[in-house]
Formats: sequence, structure tokens, C-alpha cells
Amino acid sequence: MKILVTGGLGFIGSHTVVELQNEGFDVVIIDDLSNSSLEVLEGITSISGIKPYFEELDLKIKSDVKSFFSKHSDVVGVIHFAASKAVGESVKEPLMYYENNISTLVYVLQEMTKLNRQNFIFSSSCTVYGQADELPITENAQVKPAQSPYGNTKQIGEEIIQDTCKVNEKLNSIALRYFNPIGAHPSTEIGELPIGVPQNLVPFITQTAMGMRERLSVFGGDYATPDGTCVRDYIHVVDLAKAHVVALQRLLENKNTSNYEVFNLGTGKGSSVLEAIHSFEKVSKKKLKYKIVDRREGDITAAYAETSKANNVLGWKTELSLDDAMSSAWKWEQKIRNK
Ligand code: UD1
Repeated sequence: MKILVTGGLGFIGSHTVVELQNEGFDVVIIDDLSNSSLEVLEGITSISGIKPYFEELDLKIKSDVKSFFSKHSDVVGVIHFAASKAVGESVKEPLMYYENNISTLVYVLQEMTKLNRQNFIFSSSCTVYGQADELPITENAQVKPAQSPYGNTKQIGEEIIQDTCKVNEKLNSIALRYFNPIGAHPSTEIGELPIGVPQNLVPFITQTAMGMRERLSVFGGDYATPDGTCVRDYIHVVDLAKAHVVALQRLLENKNTSNYEVFNLGTGKGSSVLEAIHSFEKVSKKKLKYKIVDRREGDITAAYAETSKANNVLGWKTELSLDDAMSSAWKWEQKIRNK
């Protein structure tokens, strides 16, 4: 069964491609290489032993999307990762974000809704909840006004899919709301490749430990949390990747109860920034230089997932711990820097 993975050379996309191949799917990848590299294709191939079909394609070019789908009309499922994801950049370049994340989604849906089999998995985010009123966060929690154009593209993306599902019964879709994906493949063949100074916590930790950054700034020590630092639900990227395969199988086997479903993907456990640092120090046996500084604008106090729906309805749960994720991220960082 042929599955299209857009953004398949990105961080979560590449790990998902490997898990799809492990389950015997025939994967085709589209990526514009704007935030990824061809080396990732080699990494995927060395893990699975199968080189997936790859096409460098810019989804903003509608005619290219059209011709891709007419060549690959035997695609039975699409997992759509291709999008820009830097919150700060999205504030500075809103139109670029709306074009990259929204126009492309529309073009993909326009073409895929011409296929015989229309199964669609969307890469959404827990950012749609903002600071939720209750923790852990269930899928029924209110969607709060977005704090950034990036966050807004995830909310609008979900609405576009939902509206399309209402008028097109053939389209079956699942939106997956990720909490904080971290870590790398245990083989160290693929992992996260942040360009420039990392904005996310774990790449910043591993780069600091490598000596590339002077020290980590912990944004805020006066939050209403047990140790005063923000709390997040850090999920190992391999667990996250496996959830995509389970979600796709749910659609392919017609197990979905409505043609638009939403699932939270998290561990259910909240960890503070200091706990994340301690986990890193434990697995790396290195002391990390850090300092508690002012809060970062736009950060929420705490977010972690209520996982019962994913566990019981989707039939998936996380297997790897924060320590596993930190350990894999550290191995990956050392490998790419020592190359
Ligand atoms: C961020 C985005 C979120 C996006 C997600 C993708 C913001 C406000 N939110 O989530 O929309 O879906 O990335 O992965 O940017 N921290 C430090 N020092 C650092 C970096 C981070 O203390 O140098 C702290 C942050 O304050 C936060 C935690 O670490 O409490 C995690 O931060 P980060 O990895 O950037 O993820 P989020 O902000 O949760």
C-alpha cells in the first residue's frame, strides 16, 4: 500500500517513514528541503534497508502538486507533515507562514480528494489549547485564540480539514495534536537538525553540553509549578512516529467512528524544565551549565496530555521514557558534531 509522506525528511516525518516501512508500507516522500537535507534519506535507508521514493517538490506550486498526484493516483493514505514550525519566525513573517502551512494544505486536499482512497493524517499541535483551564488536557478542552501565526495555522488547518470532511464523506481524516516531541532514533541515523540557534529546549541542552553554547537559559523560575519552571509533556519521537502508523491503520481498516477525529499524543506525564535538565545530566553523566532568567514571552505555565482517548480508542501508548529520549538526543548530538 502506497503512502505519501509530505515533509518526510523532517524530524517527525523521517521517523514516521521508518515506522511505516517497518510495517511493510510502500512510502513515497515529498519534501522541499527547506528545513531538511538529502542525508536524511540515506539515514532512513540505512535503518530500514529500503530506499523510499523521493521527490523534491514545493507544495506551494499548485501545478506540481497536481502532477504529482496524477502520477501517484494509487496512493491510499497521506500523512501531511510539510510545514514551517518556528514560532518566533512566524510572528515576523506571518504571510510566509500562512502560505507555507495553509495554501499547501489546501492544494494537497484538493488533489487527494480526487483519489479513490482518501485517508489523511494531519500534524497538529497541543499549541491549539494554549494555557488550558484544566490539566491534564483532554481533546475536549477549548481551543484558545492562537498566540502566534504558527499556532493559528494549526487551528486553521484543523478547521479546513473538518469543513472538507463535512461535505466529503469519502475523506477520512485524523488530526494528531502533539505535545513536545524530542529525542532521536536509537540507531542515531536520524534525529533533529535545528538550523542556527535552537529555540526548543532539548537541542539547546545537547548543544550546550557539546560546548557550542555557553549555557542554557531557563526561561522563568517563578511559575506556579512545583519547582517554579514550566511543565511540558515530552514525548519520544519514535513513540510519536508509531502513533502515525496506528492512526493510518485505523483509517485503512475503517475503524474510525467519524470521518474527522482528533487525538492527543503525549505521555500524560508533565516534566519541568529542571526535571528535563536533571534527566539529561543523569543519562549523559555531564553537568549542564544553566541559569534561571526571565520568562520567555508567550510561554504557557504547564501542559500535559490526558492520554485515555489515544490509549483506548486509538490503541496506542508511549513506551519510552524521558531518560530514553534524552539519552538518544545526546547520542545523536555527539554523532552529528563529531562527524
Ligand atoms: C514550542 C512552541 C510550540 C510548538 C513546539 C514545537 C512556543 C511558545 N511554543 O513549544 O508552539 O508546537 O515548540 O516543538 O515557542 N526553555 C528554556 N530554555 C530554552 C528553551 C526552552 O527554558 O532555551 C523552556 C521553555 O520555556 C518551555 C520548555 O523549555 O517551558 C519547552 O520549550 P520548547 O522546547 O521551546 O517548547 P514549547 O515552548 O513548549
